[in-house]
Parts: sequence; structure tokens; C-alpha cells
Amino acid sequence: MIWSFAAGTAVALALTLIIDVGWLKILLLILSLALAGVTVWTVLMYRAFSYDGKRQMSRQIIDGVAEYINLPEGGRCLDVGCGSGALANAVAKRNPQGTVTGIDRWGAEYASFSKKLCEDNAFAEGVAERTDFAQGNALKLDFPDGTFDAVTSNYVYHNIPSRDRQVILLETLRVLKKGGTFAIHDIFSKGKYGDMQSFVKKLKELGYERAELVPTDNGRFMSPWEARWMGLSGSALLVGKK
Ligand SMILES: C[S@@+](CC[C@H](N)C(=O)[O-])C[C@H]1O[C@@H](n2cnc3c(N)ncnc32)[C@H](O)[C@@H]1O
Repeated sequence: MIWSFAAGTAVALALTLIIDVGWLKILLLILSLALAGVTVWTVLMYRAFSYDGKRQMSRQIIDGVAEYINLPEGGRCLDVGCGSGALANAVAKRNPQGTVTGIDRWGAEYASFSKKLCEDNAFAEGVAERTDFAQGNALKLDFPDGTFDAVTSNYVYHNIPSRDRQVILLETLRVLKKGGTFAIHDIFSKGKYGDMQSFVKKLKELGYERAELVPTDNGRFMSPWEARWMGLSGSALLVGKK
């Protein structure tokens, strides 16, 4: 992706230099600057998120979410929208007494993620025997009510077009056992989720033992400035016990 934007910038710049028509030259110059900006932003995002990058933000988030999960002996955890398996594998690593299932849609928009990649990563992390991965849809999970001792998710639901993302949260919490733990990290801004404080209150009214929204864009996982330039303002953890 970085190389595509860099190549696009180079082509637009070259055309700017070659073409001699005034208005077209200005248009191409604007395009070159826009593409150069996107290239720089993509490089910075890579450096911040990649496990090979300097900032290691992904690792910090994944480990920070996984920390909330302590499975009982033989307990089961579900990770919704598992992507490359990073969070599912981190939970499995921290909980040698339990197993973890990861589900994902693995659609075209995240073409580098796949079931095979999850399985390969689980093998590399030494948790292949206690993890399994399957295609699934967060909007309608293929599990009966109360199947899991814990549920996790990281940066998934804000991607899903929906008029009411709180419904997606309830679908995830449906498959959690009474007394089970949840740790769901996402951009819980008003624009994406509506009033999350009311949602937390609703969970308590429904009989949940504990429900809390913990901001992570205040320095916990990222600084407010990082959150702003990365478009992650409103990031928070929805954690608690059913
Ligand atoms: C930003 S990635 C996060 C991946 C992973 N949770 C992580 O932390 O690395 C979003 C993931 O959500 C998945 N996804 C999007 N819509 C989904 C849906 N309706 N059901 C299941 N997974 C979905 C995508 O395929 C992608 O893997």
C-alpha cells in the first residue's frame, strides 16, 4: 500500500514536470501534494502500528486488552473480528488453562488477514493446540447464548456499517456466560455508537455485575495527539462481568 501511494506520487510529480498546460499543471501539482501527504501518513501509521515498527502501539493495545482475561480451568474465550489472530493468540498465551476461538469475516477490505494466517501465527506463538479460527459474522454469531467464559474484540465494530452499533455489542455479549468477562476495545465515539454511558447503565440494569468504559486515548494506549492524527479519538475499552 505504501509503495502504491509513493508510486502514485512519483507519477503525478513526473507528469507535473512534463505537461505544459497551465491549469492541468496546477491540478497535477495539487494531486502530487495530496498523494505525498497520504504517503507520509501511511508510513507514520505503519511505524506506529506494525509489530516491526518503533512505536509498537498494536502490541500495547493487544496486550492491554488481553490482560483483562483470566479464564477458568477449561474456560473458553471468543475473539470477534480476530483479523490476523493477534488478540486471540495473546489471550491463549496468557491463559494456558483455556482455549480461544477467533471468528472473522475475512472480506476484501482486509485482504492480508485470513484463517490460515491466524493458524500460522498461533503455531508461531505456541498456542495452535488451544486456538481455533472460523469464518463468522459479528452481526449474527453462530453460537448459542452463554457459550463463552470471556469475549474480546479490538477495533472491529466501528468498521461495520450499522445504524445501531450497540446492537452488535449486545450480540457479542449474548454468547457470554453469566459471570463471564468482556473486554471490547473500539472507537466508542458518540458519532459511531451513540450514548455509550447510557449503554453501560443499561447493562447494569440488565443485571451485569460490572460494566465500565475505560478511555484509552488519554495516554493509556495512545496519547490524545496520536489518537487525533490517527483518527482514533474516542478509543476506549468496554470491560466488565456479565
Ligand atoms: C481493524 S481489523 C482488526 C483485527 C484484529 N481485531 C486486530 O486487533 O488486529 C478489523 C477486522 O474486523 C473484521 N470484520 C469486519 N466486519 C466484520 C464482521 N461483520 N464480522 C466479523 N469480522 C468483521 C475484518 O475482517 C478485520 O479483520
